[in-house]
Amino acid sequence: MEEEACLQQFLGDNLELEIINVKHNPLKDEDIKAIVSIELHPDVRKWLPDYAYEDFDKEFKDYKKFFQDLQNNNKVEVLVARVNGRIVGFLALWRMVEYEEHVRSIGVSVHPDYRKKGIATKLVKKAIELAKELGAKKLIIETLEENIAMRRVAEKLKFKLEYVRRSREFKDGSRHNEYVYLLSL
Ligand SMILES: CC(C)(COP(=O)(O)OP(=O)(O)OC[C@H]1O[C@@H](n2cnc3c(N)ncnc32)[C@H](O)[C@@H]1OP(=O)(O)O)[C@@H](O)C(=O)NCCC(=O)NCCS
Repeated sequence: MEEEACLQQFLGDNLELEIINVKHNPLKDEDIKAIVSIELHPDVRKWLPDYAYEDFDKEFKDYKKFFQDLQNNNKVEVLVARVNGRIVGFLALWRMVEYEEHVRSIGVSVHPDYRKKGIATKLVKKAIELAKELGAKKLIIETLEENIAMRRVAEKLKFKLEYVRRSREFKDGSRHNEYVYLLSL
């Protein structure tokens, strides 16, 4: 609840956005709490097929450990979007075991109060630059057919629809088509 109140006070036109690579700028506890509150928001969780609900404290503990180990984790890069200093969105660039070595996969979330302001687009653009620096050759975005916002971001940035994974089962038992977008770098 406290996180929600903090996020809302920055709404308005005077928004200063920064995109930051977490490996070069370690996060404080309050930053990790902002990330967890985004990830636990119902309008974020409903789009994530594998997400199992955990309470805030449990999630915070897991994320804190993840960020403490991040420097030594060569499977993932993390970018955060700060608006007037506060984290309102983040992106993970994953090296996936199921894909080849030079393929990276993008997961991105933006707090609902800050959507449609181009934040995800800027995060993904930065991730494209970072992936190139890391020597990746292909980027993947997997998203639900119904996720118009994510599909729009992918298509705006010239990702091509590679295939549709039909009727994927969610943790809640429902089935949805998943769109798999690919960008050759
Ligand atoms: C998907 C998500 C990251 C987009 O974040 P965002 O910062 O709002 O994205 P942007 O503002 O950069 O771009 C969104 C685009 O989609 C468009 N859009 C959003 N909702 C839309 C809708 N319902 N119908 C049509 N277009 C829509 C926006 O207008 C914008 O396009 P534009 O720049 O041409 O106007 C955000 O909605 C989110 O966090 N969703 C929940 C988590 C999630 O789904 N993550 C992706 C899992 S793969």
